[in-house]
Amino acid sequence: MKKHVVLYKALSAQLMARLQAQADVTLIERLDAQGLAQLRNALPGAHGLLGASLKLDAALLDLAPNLQAIASVSVGVDNYDIDYLTERRILLSNTPDVLTETTADTGFALILATARRVVELANLIRAGQWQKSIGPEHFGSDVHGKTLGIIGMGRIGEALAQRGHFGFGMPVIYHSHSPKPAIEQRFNARYCSLETLLRQADFICLTLPLTAETQGLIGEHAFAQMRPESIFINISRGKVVDEAALIDALRNGQIRAAGLDVFEREPLSADSPLLQMDNVVATPHMGSATHETREAMARCAVENLLAALAGERPVNLVNPGAWKG
Ligand code: DGY
Repeated sequence: MKKHVVLYKALSAQLMARLQAQADVTLIERLDAQGLAQLRNALPGAHGLLGASLKLDAALLDLAPNLQAIASVSVGVDNYDIDYLTERRILLSNTPDVLTETTADTGFALILATARRVVELANLIRAGQWQKSIGPEHFGSDVHGKTLGIIGMGRIGEALAQRGHFGFGMPVIYHSHSPKPAIEQRFNARYCSLETLLRQADFICLTLPLTAETQGLIGEHAFAQMRPESIFINISRGKVVDEAALIDALRNGQIRAAGLDVFEREPLSADSPLLQMDNVVATPHMGSATHETREAMARCAVENLLAALAGERPVNLVNPGAWKG
C-alpha cells in the first residue's frame, strides 16, 4: 500500500509526478486559516510531510500518530522541535548544499546594494530627483579591498568568503565555533573573536543558524562595538538579532547601513521603522529564491522523503538519533 504524504508547498509537475508515483499525496495549497484546517484534517493519516515556512510544533504533530518523516524544503531547521521528533523517531531532513551559492549571491547583493546605495539612488531617479550629477551626499563606500567579517563559517559563510577574497580582493576575518584551517588557507582568512570581528570588519555578515545559543546574539552590546562605517548584513535568521537594538544602532549612527533578508517576525510589517530608513535594504527572505535553486531544493526534499518512507536513511538526515539503523 502506498504511503500518504501531505505537501504544504506546491511542487513542479515533474516532482509532483515523481512523488505521486510512490505515494498518495494531499496538497495544502496555502497556509492560511483554511489551509491550516486542511492540514489538521490530513495529519492523522500522514506518513510523510513535505514543505517549509511552518512551525511544526508538538501540538500539531501529536495529531499525526503515523508520521515517519518530515522533509523540510530549507536548510534551516528552526521550525522543528528536534528533540521531540527524535523521541518519536520521526526522521527530519533538510536541503543543504543546493542553496549555498545562491544564498551567498544574495549576501553579496546586499553588500553591494547597501555600500553603493543602489536602492536609494534608484528610487531617487524614479522620484524625478536626478537633475544634476550626484554629489558627495549621495556617494557610497567601496566594497573591494574592505574587510569582510563573517559570523558563522558554515557552507554559506565559506561561499561568501570565496566571493569576497577572489572577487573583491577583500581581507576576510571570521568567527565560528572553532578555527577552520582549510578555509584560512584557501581565502587567506583570519579567525578572530566575535568582539574583534565586530570592531574590525567593514561588512559584518551573519550566517549563523537560529538555535537557543544564537537567539538574540547580536544585540545592543554587539552594535556598540561596531564602527560608524560598518555595514551589517543578515542572511541567516532574524531572531539571531535583537531588531530593536538594530533599529537604535541605525538611528543613532552607530552603523552606516544594514542589508537584511530576514527579520524577527516575517513577513515584516509594512510599518516597521526599518522600512523608513534610506540606509536599510530590506528583502523578503529571498536568500535561495531563484527558479533553479528552489527547484533543486524541492527535488532534494522529495528524494529525502521518498528514501525515508522506503526505510532508507535520507542523505540529509538532521536527527540521526531518530534512525534505527
Ligand atoms: C532556508 O533554506 O533555511 C532558507 O532560509 C529558507 O527558509
